[in-house]
Amino acid sequence: MDSNGPDSWLTEAEFDQPRQVDLRTDRAHSARVYDYLLGGKTNFPADREVADRLLADLPGARDGAAAARAVMHRMVRRLAGKYGVRQFLDVGTGIPTTPNLHEIVQSVDPSCRVVYVDNDPIVLAHSRALLTSTPEGRTAYVEGDLREPEKFLADPAVAATLDLTEPVALTLINIVHFLSDEAAHPPVRRLLDALPAGSFLALSAGTADNAPDQVAVGSRRYAEAGIEVHVRSRAAVERFFAGLELDDPGVVLINRWHPELGEPSTVADSEVSVYGGLARKP
Ligand SMILES: C[S@@+](CC[C@H](N)C(=O)[O-])C[C@H]1O[C@@H](n2cnc3c(N)ncnc32)[C@H](O)[C@@H]1O
Repeated sequence: MDSNGPDSWLTEAEFDQPRQVDLRTDRAHSARVYDYLLGGKTNFPADREVADRLLADLPGARDGAAAARAVMHRMVRRLAGKYGVRQFLDVGTGIPTTPNLHEIVQSVDPSCRVVYVDNDPIVLAHSRALLTSTPEGRTAYVEGDLREPEKFLADPAVAATLDLTEPVALTLINIVHFLSDEAAHPPVRRLLDALPAGSFLALSAGTADNAPDQVAVGSRRYAEAGIEVHVRSRAAVERFFAGLELDDPGVVLINRWHPELGEPSTVADSEVSVYGGLARKP
């Protein structure tokens, strides 16, 4: 698994956002804990403390994080390759990690366009690494919250990057487990309603179905750091796809989701606590 290379690291001089951003480095944040688990460099002592406690209890957590990231690679490869999708709206992007979504889909077709959305200021601080588009394509970064889709959909960068009359793949990879059903379902529906027929939803979400004891420990570690985690049964994850046409093999543990489309992985079911699925809007 590649980790953040020097190319994805913004120096302080490059950090040219127009306003002061409070990164709250004193508190752990899900994006930075995940970055540390993936072997990245964009994390601080508070994040590493949570991740190290997690690793002490769950030595397989790094493999689990790598598997959670890798399913994004395979899903967008299939979307761009098999389904010819050329527009992507990725909400809950995370800290840039090579390869980023646009790098994968633009390697299939350089004209692919991607809008990235995240609510963490540190992702914003590193967003330049997400804007390295091919000349034929385009990428944009919008600071926004999944719970407020109207706000980020109204950002001029969205209209400048995506044609919402043409199919778009909405990618929600490893984000909805930070929200309850009540908080997550309405915005996901609103986003799907905003997209035309032929659009797709790619979603992955944490579960305790597979390794309940380990997931309980992991959720407790996150909770101690003030990060809510809402794990779901397979049926509860399937609910996000209601009204859509599920692609094969349905909602499955992510290591079982089209492994042939990715890097060879030896990750065992026991290390994977995330379901994923892909579906088309009819
Ligand atoms: C575990 S990371 C996943 C990153 C990436 N999608 C991946 O799978 O590699 C979750 C990301 O979702 C973001 N996030 C969490 N809640 C969010 C919300 N309500 N709105 C937007 N982003 C959110 C976090 O800041 C973090 O960057």
